[in-house]
Parts: sequence; structure tokens; C-alpha cells
Amino acid sequence: MSKNQLDQKSQAWSALFSEPMSDLVKRYTSSVFFDKRLWQSDIQGSLAHAEMLSAQKIISTQDLADIQRGMAQITDEITKGQFDWKLDLEDVHLNIEARLTQIVGDAGKRLHTGRSRNDQVATDVRLWLVSEIDLISGLLTDLQKSLIEVAERNVEVILPGFTHLQVAQPVSFAHHLLAYVEMFARDAERMADVRRRTNRLPLGSAALAGTTYPLDRERVARNLGMVDEQGQACVCQNSLDGVSDRDFAIEFTAAASLCMVHISRLSEELILWMSQNFGFVKIADRFTTGSSIMPQKKNPDVPELARGKTGRVVGHLMGLITLMKGQPLAYNKDNQEDKEPLFDTVDTLKDTLRIFSEMIGGQLNSETGQKEGGISVNASAMEAATKKGYATATDLADYLVKKGLPFRDAHEVVAHAVKTAQTQNLDLSELPLTTLQQFNAGIQADVFECLSLVGSLNARKTLGGTAPDQVRQQIARHHARLGF
Ligand code: ARG
Repeated sequence: MSKNQLDQKSQAWSALFSEPMSDLVKRYTSSVFFDKRLWQSDIQGSLAHAEMLSAQKIISTQDLADIQRGMAQITDEITKGQFDWKLDLEDVHLNIEARLTQIVGDAGKRLHTGRSRNDQVATDVRLWLVSEIDLISGLLTDLQKSLIEVAERNVEVILPGFTHLQVAQPVSFAHHLLAYVEMFARDAERMADVRRRTNRLPLGSAALAGTTYPLDRERVARNLGMVDEQGQACVCQNSLDGVSDRDFAIEFTAAASLCMVHISRLSEELILWMSQNFGFVKIADRFTTGSSIMPQKKNPDVPELARGKTGRVVGHLMGLITLMKGQPLAYNKDNQEDKEPLFDTVDTLKDTLRIFSEMIGGQLNSETGQKEGGISVNASAMEAATKKGYATATDLADYLVKKGLPFRDAHEVVAHAVKTAQTQNLDLSELPLTTLQQFNAGIQADVFECLSLVGSLNARKTLGGTAPDQVRQQIARHHARLGF
């Protein structure tokens, strides 16, 4: 950068360059209009760096005070929307540094001692992502709570559990919702794990090889909250890796993709359940739209869009992972392309989690202290659908096994019984006892208990099964786990 002209970069970079960039190249290479959202992390990282430079007597305490004053003013300008972001200054880092130098003079020019934009940007993105992961973890908790609250009210509600989208066995609606709680709980674990590897400090790697100044990297790490569970500073241990590693961005986007896949599966179910052929649930009108031509329509736009946006986030994962595959050590400008997919992944995931929490669990009414407008459940439609597909056939087979038949034989006997029931358009529970006894003489009147939906449900008491007692235990476990 030419002597005092950081903010005048419309000319060439330095004395070494014989011509300035064309406007097209400037636009192509600059990132300021998307990376300016890193400004808070950039300032935070710079202040930690400056504090350490001063503690190590690399800059004076006066320089530090000037830098702090300048950064306070810049923070104010950006917050008030008065900061003049310049394309000519390429990115968020050069924009802020140039403004700092304008405000405080030489101290601003000393800030970049022992630092490069390569370790600076890696630090900024990590700091920013850690705070976003914390927000996302909170949103994952909210969504789990919403699902658990609806589950609590629907432990005894029975719907057909499917395999191959064919009626398989009766399950509790609460049990079905808690399956998603398991998925989102794993997503939260993954986010916590990604956070550990994201929360490490590249700063001090400088351009690629480390620096000649006596930096105290661990001090900077502690200052930025980059510490492990024991409070030990977390510092990238190899400068080449420190500036060029984007694993954390890929891992995060992978975890986000999986979370979106869970959302997408839930969306698919909501869409099916809301269709006229199922009629199991309704979501509040504010999450649906009408049709411009068909007056009767209420379309599940939000779940459909979430299903669509899953493709978008998975696409970002592909983009990021491909970004890295051909890069030699250390930093390459390719890495500037990490930001837009990462930012969009964070935005999409956060919006989706927020909207799903509310769509499922409802909105808090501050007057009543109750949540309102969540998903509404049509228990009788669910029950009627469960009665359609011989959902208790396995229960009849289990009944025969208890009477001494080997399971395979029992399976065959029940197949015959189902065939007969089908020809008469009756459920197994509607066949007279005498008819059932034609298939196996051991069948007694107590068979009707196990052919009922409730009997079928109650019988599945294994850990993780759908019996209401079991489901209530799971709900209690989730309450304890999430502390609510
Ligand atoms: N805007 C750049 C990025 O996002 C900052 C690092 C630039 N480093 C460099 N050597 N050109 O990656």
C-alpha cells in the first residue's frame, strides 16, 4: 500500500505496480459488499491483537489507546450507518484499517504489525461463526421444546406409523414428534462439536510462516474467548494450516445440511399430513398461502420452501468442499469464496429454525403466558387412518406366539386372516371370534384387546418404544436434559 494512501487505492497497490486495476477486476476481486458483515469480529480481533502488541511492547501504550479510540469511533459510525464502505479498498479489513489510520494516524498504521490479512480473515470468520453457532444452538433448543410441548398433549393420540408409506403399526403422535427431537438433539451435539474446532485462533500465523515479532498468541486467544472447557487458550498450532484451514466452515455447513435434512423430512410429513387425503394436522394460516386461481386452496408454502431451501444449503456444502480440493498451502484467494455460502447457510438455517419453532409450538401470548397458534391435531382423522391398513396384524401374530406358535407360522396364519378380512372389507378387530378361530383354534376372546389400537400401543413397552408410559418417560428425560 502506498505510503499514506490506504484509502486512495484507486491507483495501484504499491510502487511495484505499473497500472491500476480495471473496474471490472476491482469488482471481481473485492469482497467488501459481503464481508462487511464481519466488521464486529474484525474490530474485536484487531483490538485483541493491539492489546497484545502493547503488552509485548511492540507498540506503545499510546498507540494502543489511539487504536482503541479510533475503533470506538468506527464502531459508532458503522452502527449508525455512517461508515463509507469503499469498493476500492477491497474488503472489510482494508476498509476498517484505512479509516482507523485516517482517524488516529500512525498508530493505525502500526496495527498490522505481525499480522496479515490471511490470519486476520481466518480469525474474523471463526469469531463470527462461533457467535452464530451459539445462536443456532439456542434456536435448536427452542425447536426441541416446541416439539416436546406438542408431544406432551398428544401422548395418547394414535396415528398410523408407516414403512414404505404403507400403514405399518399404530404409534403415538407424541412418539412420532419425539423422533424429530432426537434428530435435533443430535444436530445440537454436532454444532457443539464444530464449535470446539472453530473456536481456535489463527492470528499470529501472519501471512503463512509466522512472524518475527515476539507475539503472545495465547493471550490473544484468551482475550477473544478462544479457550477450551478447562480455560486453556486454543491456538492453531501450524501457521500454514492456520491461515488456510477452512475445515470448520465445511464441518459447520455439513452439520447445517443435516439439520436442514431433518427439517425437510418433517416438512414432507407436514405437507402430507395437511393434504385432504390425510387431514391429520393444520398449521396456522400465517404459514400458508392461497392460490391466485383456485379459491379453495391453502398451500403449505413454509414447509415446502424449507424443503426447497435444504437443497440450497446442501449446495453450499458442495460449493465449500469443492473450493478446498485443489488448493496448495497456504492461503489462496479462492478462500474469499467461503463467505457467501457460509453466510447464506447461517441465515437460512436460523430463519428456518425460528419459523419451525413457531409453526409447531405457537407464539407466546404475553398476556396469557400461553403459546398460541401452533400446529393443530385432528386425532380422529389419525385414528380413522390407523384403522384402515391392518395396523394390528403384528399384534395378532405376537398373540399367537404367546399361545405357543413359532413366529413364522403365526405370521402365515395372520396373513390368511388379513386376506379374509380384506375380502369382507373389515378390520381384524371386526371379524367375529368364530371366524378368527378358523385360522387358529387357540384364539380366545382376549384377542380383541390386542387387536385394538390402544392395546397395540400399550404393548410396545420396550425402551424407546411407542407405549404411552415409555413416551412419558422420554418426555421427562427431555425436560431434564433441556432444563425446562
Ligand atoms: N478478502 C480476503 C478473503 O476474504 C482477505 C484476505 C486477503 N489476503 C490476500 N493475501 N489477498 O480471503
